[in-house]
Amino acid sequence: MRLMFVTSEAYPLAKTGGLADVSRALPAALQRQGTDVRVMMPAYPRAMVQLRDPKIVAQLDPAFGIDDGLLIAGMFPDCDLPVFMVSSTTLFGRAGGLYQDNVGNDWADNALRFAFLSKVAADLALGQTPVSWQPDVVHANDWHTGLLPLFIAQHEGPRPQTVFTTHNMAFQGNFAREQVPDLGTAAGADFEFYGKISYLKAGLRYADRVTTVSPTYAREILSPECGFGLEGVLAARGSDFSGILNGIDETIWNPATDRFLPAHYGARDTTGKHVCKRELQRELELPIAPDVPLIGFVSRLTEQKMADTLIEALPWIAARGAQLAVIGEGDHVIEAALAAASDKNPTILAATIGYDEALAHKLHAGSDILLAPARFEPCGLTQLYALRYGTLPVVRNTGGLADTVVDTNNLSLCARTASGFVFNDPTSDGMVTALSRALALYRDPLHWQLVQLQAMTREFGWDRSAGIYMELYREITGVAPGRDEKLEGDEVAA
Ligand code: ADP
Ligand code: GLC
Repeated sequence: MRLMFVTSEAYPLAKTGGLADVSRALPAALQRQGTDVRVMMPAYPRAMVQLRDPKIVAQLDPAFGIDDGLLIAGMFPDCDLPVFMVSSTTLFGRAGGLYQDNVGNDWADNALRFAFLSKVAADLALGQTPVSWQPDVVHANDWHTGLLPLFIAQHEGPRPQTVFTTHNMAFQGNFAREQVPDLGTAAGADFEFYGKISYLKAGLRYADRVTTVSPTYAREILSPECGFGLEGVLAARGSDFSGILNGIDETIWNPATDRFLPAHYGARDTTGKHVCKRELQRELELPIAPDVPLIGFVSRLTEQKMADTLIEALPWIAARGAQLAVIGEGDHVIEAALAAASDKNPTILAATIGYDEALAHKLHAGSDILLAPARFEPCGLTQLYALRYGTLPVVRNTGGLADTVVDTNNLSLCARTASGFVFNDPTSDGMVTALSRALALYRDPLHWQLVQLQAMTREFGWDRSAGIYMELYREITGVAPGRDEKLEGDEVAA
């Protein structure tokens, strides 16, 4: 099976959130299961400098007026995963964010940048570049690659099969017509959305299969509340749409080996976790107090993540004698409110505004509780990292959070399934009620350790879900796993 996994970010080459983690961990897990997998992504400067063994493999034909395109092949810096990078100085060779400039405005040419990425991916997949490797399946992710299934579907003749995964229905890649280059798509292609062109809609409509990142979110986005206007498009896909739960990369997110931690530990011996807590308190200039519960918050600071509600709950947290450590960036109003609160109460709240991979790891390990609320959450990875690190998550009952955290109550304590705290109402009251249950359990060390042990020993590696993706690829292509040749009589054709 040959698979091309196309994405706008992949850890550690370029990351703004969970998509990057998935775009490395899932291909790596598929590779372990015998798939010949290549990742494709833009050649951002930060990604290019990390690429191992880079080679120019093609000078790309001009497309949409872009004539400086190169295709570069190389390897991830820290694992044997091959990657194609789409290089264009015009589109990707700039300082600033992946999708936004330094002040947080979307790049004005995002429609062109990601149309180009999709075009190059489609050309490679269809054998229209000098690269001889061609995939059986093209797996596209999020709106940035939404045009890719469309370009492939419109190709006449044999073509690979396509899977499109939506990691978040709130990010749709909707552009005014004049921002979008002439895509050359056949008449009749429908991916308009309220007068705009929607790259997400194109992916959802034209991929052979559509997935999202948890079973509960798959159900939720069929409703107007969570589907953001595209619920009808999804419903029309019927059984071609499904939810497959994300996993975690257990080589990167493992408290026994994590290279960012000052001490290591595991489920059997959590002594190192106390050292991680002490060092985190020291680094963040919080009082070093082993018995004071430390609540961590590692997140984009947005309404999706209820970061606004966290601000409302700050006085409650302060009055409970807990410490709160935040690392995040996003909404400037929320950033400013957190920074001000942290200046005012430095012994209670340490807010680090910005993006810091090392601190995120240290926070997952050094905190006692991870607060991960959300108005909606397609999957969420931080609660999974927290479980593995024995940091009990407090989450809202939505999407992947609901699928991965078992609320602590008498029943789940007896059944030995409890792993965190779950609340329903997306309000400050809902959140603090669950937090107060977490703080009460913290004061009961025996039960705390029991739940911690249960959390740390839950299975959240990628192998199971990678197996489900393999099944899906196999179903649509008829290509056997781990083999390069096709099954007799099977054609990789539309
Ligand atoms: P989302 O992708 O919606 O932001 P996820 O929980 O799926 O949420 O993934 C978030 C990822 O980004 C995790 O790896 C988390 O550790 C990381 N992360 C979020 N905010 C920061 C930050 N400010 N600094 C470092 N890592 C962060
Ligand atoms: C998105 C979602 C998040 C998910 C991640 C990886 O960013 O918001 O819930 O975990 O993608 O799939």
